[in-house]
Amino acid sequence: MSLLEKKRVLLGVTGGIAAYKAAELVRLLTRAKAEVQVVMTPAASNFITPLTLQALSGRSVRQKMFDTEQEAVMGHIDLARWADLILVAPASADFISRLAVGMANDLLATLCLAATTPIALAPAMNREMWQNPATQANIQTLCHRGTKIWGPADGEQACGEIGPGRMLEPDELLEQIKHNLSPGVLHGVRVLLTAGPTREPIDPVRYVGNRSSGRMGYALASAFAAEGALVTMISGPVSLDTPEGVQRVDVETAVEMEHAVGSRVEQCDIFVACAAVADYRCDGVAKQKIKKLQERLELRLIRNPDILRQVAANEAAPFTVGFAAETERVAEQAEQKRRAKGVDMIAANLVAGERGGFESDENALTVLWEGGGSELPMMDKQRLAQSLVALIISKYHEKD
Ligand code: C5P
Repeated sequence: MSLLEKKRVLLGVTGGIAAYKAAELVRLLTRAKAEVQVVMTPAASNFITPLTLQALSGRSVRQKMFDTEQEAVMGHIDLARWADLILVAPASADFISRLAVGMANDLLATLCLAATTPIALAPAMNREMWQNPATQANIQTLCHRGTKIWGPADGEQACGEIGPGRMLEPDELLEQIKHNLSPGVLHGVRVLLTAGPTREPIDPVRYVGNRSSGRMGYALASAFAAEGALVTMISGPVSLDTPEGVQRVDVETAVEMEHAVGSRVEQCDIFVACAAVADYRCDGVAKQKIKKLQERLELRLIRNPDILRQVAANEAAPFTVGFAAETERVAEQAEQKRRAKGVDMIAANLVAGERGGFESDENALTVLWEGGGSELPMMDKQRLAQSLVALIISKYHEKD
């Protein structure tokens, strides 16, 4: 039986040159036995005719909000409820901005607003339009609301320019749809992860810390939960809300984190060390607040346990993923770290660059595993987490 048999995909088509690819996507979907209902915005029909999409989908294409006949057959709210997935491909800059502010000024925008089913967007536009801060802010808003953003790809554009903004190809979109409609690829898989910084106390009021915001770890926890995994997150002190469906255990120090991980690691299948664990802690914490009486004050530090290394060294170690923040020769140093710590996969980033890294909303990663690797380009941490989780899933299943 096809994975998509009887699955209902509502395909929204908006006005952009990539709209012609919607025809091929409908063909691939119907061939995979999915039911496809096409909804076009008024602008979309400048690029492709409703008749083409109607013939390929075998269903009357919906275009108008106030079409009495069509509304009588299936009203716009029922249309939103009918679908297992709503995919808007291509999603124009205009449609993305309307969705971000919650407008309901055409049929497609209205049903997206009424939908409780997952919504995915395949953006397609000129690279400057994609990179415009307004579009990026809209994408971020939608990402935070749980909208899936598939693509865009980098490459040659219809306008002759080269850069990010190309819609993903129909076969790539089909893969994403399949992946999305299969019931949680990680259903029942137990994921343990560490996130955020640790704080190493000096005295009752002071500590040694670092600038990790925890955003990458929290985005990963959320992406794992979205795949159906049972997620436990051991978190250092951060000011972020716990992602939906994630069990959070708060700790402060590296030693507390080590204990929290140690008591749970045997019950997990995948361990991801995303925390920025302090390498050293104070050798003895002052009982009282240290007074500023001396000109020079020396802190004696001792090494903290390497949690990731300990987990990977276990005989029955779970699938282990570590992170590496490097300031130069990222791939080479990360591979060395991967081998030294004995982990299955390492995700490395350049922390000396102008973009990405600590405290930033975006990041890029070089991901390495035994005999292979992949580059995940600069993108916001939510989307990056989804891509990294997809890589972890494929390597975890291979090892399993
Ligand atoms: O050795 P380094 O700190 O560069 O390694 C980074 C990786 O190791 C990260 O995945 C981090 O979460 C993990 N780590 C750890 N315990 C430590 C130090 C790092 O789990 N004490």
